[in-house]
Amino acid sequence: MNRVIEQILNHRSIRTFKDEPLTDEQIHIMVESAQRASTSSHYQAYSIIGVTDPSIKEEIAGLSGHAHVKNSGHFFVFCADLNRLAYGADPETKTKMNANLENTEHFLVAAIDAALAAQNASLAAESMGLGICYIGGIRTDIKRVDELLNLPEFVIPLFGLAVGYPDHKPELKPRLPMEAIYFENTYRPDEQAYHRALERFDETLQEYYAKRSTNQRQDNWSTQIQRKLSKPVRMEVTEYIQSKGMNKR
Ligand SMILES: Cc1cc2nc3c(=O)[nH]c(=O)nc-3n(C[C@H](O)[C@H](O)[C@H](O)COP(=O)(O)O)c2cc1C
Repeated sequence: MNRVIEQILNHRSIRTFKDEPLTDEQIHIMVESAQRASTSSHYQAYSIIGVTDPSIKEEIAGLSGHAHVKNSGHFFVFCADLNRLAYGADPETKTKMNANLENTEHFLVAAIDAALAAQNASLAAESMGLGICYIGGIRTDIKRVDELLNLPEFVIPLFGLAVGYPDHKPELKPRLPMEAIYFENTYRPDEQAYHRALERFDETLQEYYAKRSTNQRQDNWSTQIQRKLSKPVRMEVTEYIQSKGMNKR
């Protein structure tokens, strides 16, 4: 196994960081790595905001419910950004472009571009001995994050990325058996193998939750997910995104 694969297979989210900021060079390497990711039609339809202002960090930590936002060595917010694509366009061209900028297709393009960039940045960080944790929790009050970061139309915050020197080493969190997520030629050709894989995973995760070194509990994968998704989650995000001009048609 080569070192890149070894690093990828050892990923775990880090939620406790040493009190040591990232250097400018580390930040630069992460952003440059993000920019090297493949990007749909070369649009590069994302922006990355490094949050260094302690009061903004503090407020995002509070609204997301995650102290590791504040206690990280650096905190990034990855935004889907279609705003830049109309740069320099005359009003007539902009009107024509809007049919695309406002549709679901281009909302997906920007979200995918941002996610690929973020994962490249994350791998770069991990290769430098840093730990990372994505923070979808910023969408708990997405409108406030929008205000804090002064985002214009066609720009929305998707998730944060807390980065820093790890101050713990959690156990690897198990993933679904491959039979549950990788299929050849058609979707789920062997339904029985698929069900067996999910059953096995519930057992695996139950054991993981019961035995892990922190926050032990009695739970399994399917029960946990059904419990989470039986309550409304961030229902106001749809309206917010449409208010920014995106995903409207
Ligand atoms: C888009 C995204 C958003 C996430 N949001 C949060 C978050 O708000 N808070 C948090 O503690 N972890 C968050 N995570 C981390 C996941 O909980 C974590 O990746 C998952 O449980 C698997 O654990 P592992 O990364 O340690 O393997 C997020 C991950 C992703 C990809």
